[in-house]
Amino acid sequence: MLPAIAVSHLNYQYPDAERLALHDVSFTVAPGEWVAIIGHNGSGKSTLAKNLNGLLAPAAGTVVVGGLTLSESTVWDIRAKVGIVFQNPDNQFVGATVADDVAFGLENRGVPREEMLVRVADALDAVGMRDFATREPARLSGGQKQRVAIAGIIAQRPDIIILDEATSMLDPAGRTEIVQLIQRLRATTQLTVLSITHDIDEAASADRVILLNDGEIRTVGTPAEIFAFGPELLKLGLDVPYPEKLKAALAARGVAMPAHYLDAEGLGDYLWTLHSTM
Ligand SMILES: Nc1ncnc2c1ncn2[C@@H]1O[C@H](COP(=O)(O)OP(=O)(O)OP(=O)(O)O)[C@@H](O)[C@H]1O
Ligand SMILES: [Mg+2]
Repeated sequence: MLPAIAVSHLNYQYPDAERLALHDVSFTVAPGEWVAIIGHNGSGKSTLAKNLNGLLAPAAGTVVVGGLTLSESTVWDIRAKVGIVFQNPDNQFVGATVADDVAFGLENRGVPREEMLVRVADALDAVGMRDFATREPARLSGGQKQRVAIAGIIAQRPDIIILDEATSMLDPAGRTEIVQLIQRLRATTQLTVLSITHDIDEAASADRVILLNDGEIRTVGTPAEIFAFGPELLKLGLDVPYPEKLKAALAARGVAMPAHYLDAEGLGDYLWTLHSTM
């Protein structure tokens, strides 16, 4: 099967920067896969996202999206396939109403009005915001704004959606809302998702995790494989899930703990079994 994204030996350097922001980055993402990208501040996550839809042009290496190699002649086709939602939705609103805002990108692409109305309604349904169609975006809560921003992308029917810290301004309930929304969308469409995140629970919901460090891929694995690095993640400036912290603290007190990753439920079961054999 053709990968949704294939990046090989990608280098990127900002003008005037002394060092590469991305160095020899290679990975592939399968259609329909959800991949989380984690890494410390300045590790190159946003730079990578911008290289994937041609907002930035690679210094070396190739980016292939759905079989199309990114170049000056394909950049607009690729941009239609890759939608990016950024951190702060307030900077992304252009419409006077929620519906206008979602329609904006479609108008720019010359989508006929009839089809536009259908797409806007569908996208607002998908994010659970249809009742807010005539509201002013500025008056929505943070979670609602981010859902509208996602609707604006979905309406353009991209194959790939990149969420660049799109949940970082939200409270835990707002984050859960977005993660559930992504899971719903993936259940009904073959949407490929890249989520750049500091939120460990969001990363844990992904199929795979790419760990960036200083512009290079440190490792790629399932969330369980990545979280099992526990102490090293802390050294790389990343948080680890609460059950991993508890596990490390118990191990330090001499309690026998398994090496593999356990989520909260798994750890609960383990401790319960341990307790009943003591
Ligand atoms: N416009 C720019 N000009 C020069 N250097 C830049 C520019 N934007 C980012 N950088 C540098 O490139 C590197 C990667 O930055 P990037 O924004 O991709 O990191 P990030 O992982 O997204 O960080 P954060 O978690 O803070 O969002 C950093 O060293 C950063 O200082
Ligand atoms: Mg960033």
